[in-house]
Amino acid sequence: MVEGPAGAANSQHPPDGPLFSCKNISLDLGGREILKDISLEVASGEVLGVIGPNGAGKTSLFEVLCGRFPAKSGSVTFSGQDVSSLSLYQRARIGMGRTYQTPVVPDELTVEEVFKAARQAYKPYLNRWHVLWAMRLVRFSADPDMPAAQLDTLDRRTAGLINSEVDEFDDLIRVLAKELNVAIVIVEHRIELLDTIADRVMVMDAGEKISEGDLAMVLKDPKVRAAYFEDVH
Ligand SMILES: Nc1ncnc2c1ncn2[C@@H]1O[C@H](COP(=O)(O)OP(=O)(O)OP(=O)(O)O)[C@@H](O)[C@H]1O
Ligand SMILES: [Mg+2]
Repeated sequence: MVEGPAGAANSQHPPDGPLFSCKNISLDLGGREILKDISLEVASGEVLGVIGPNGAGKTSLFEVLCGRFPAKSGSVTFSGQDVSSLSLYQRARIGMGRTYQTPVVPDELTVEEVFKAARQAYKPYLNRWHVLWAMRLVRFSADPDMPAAQLDTLDRRTAGLINSEVDEFDDLIRVLAKELNVAIVIVEHRIELLDTIADRVMVMDAGEKISEGDLAMVLKDPKVRAAYFEDVH
């Protein structure tokens, strides 16, 4: 999951097999079947894009993958370990990260503290050097001691990124995947952006996986055209 829109760090991944996967995930919420038998695999260094119309179950799937919602059935595996029974923070501790569409930046923290907080569960003993490294990685220049509340840029919503920022975000996702060997699952509503970012795409509709493969292939899939494009205006 993108340590941004959904990420899994690659500290102890097994020599073969996917770094991150789920198998036959089903989920009920409020007496309704929300996810039906979803399986996916992401290799170290790979970016999997998840798309689907509103209400397809993308966010619900992320909630199961990160450990917030217990699945009715199925399993989640990270780095060769079945993590299905681990809590959200236990999954974070072994290198699974999840971010949200709307960033939360607590006003009372400094820039340095915000960067540390983002990694707290995975690495509790971070120092300023780690923060400066992370700031360089994401090309973020600011005084680490400055109150985060004063930063206009941190407050922007992903949905409101201007084109150059989208390009930077794409670059960053690729650096995380290809250079740091993170396995990334990302929900992206703008299909055209997946072309540059995702190695593979999975399409969901009404709680089910209806197609998977490279973007050009899934866009031609009649099931995708029927389910997805009818919802796009
Ligand atoms: N806590 C909940 N209780 C009951 N139903 C829920 C709950 N959360 C989500 N749902 C339902 O589950 C289905 C999937 O919702 P979900 O938010 O996962 O879809 P999504 O693909 O993320 O949609 P969007 O593109 O709008 O973000 C929807 O029908 C939604 O109404
Ligand atoms: Mg959603």
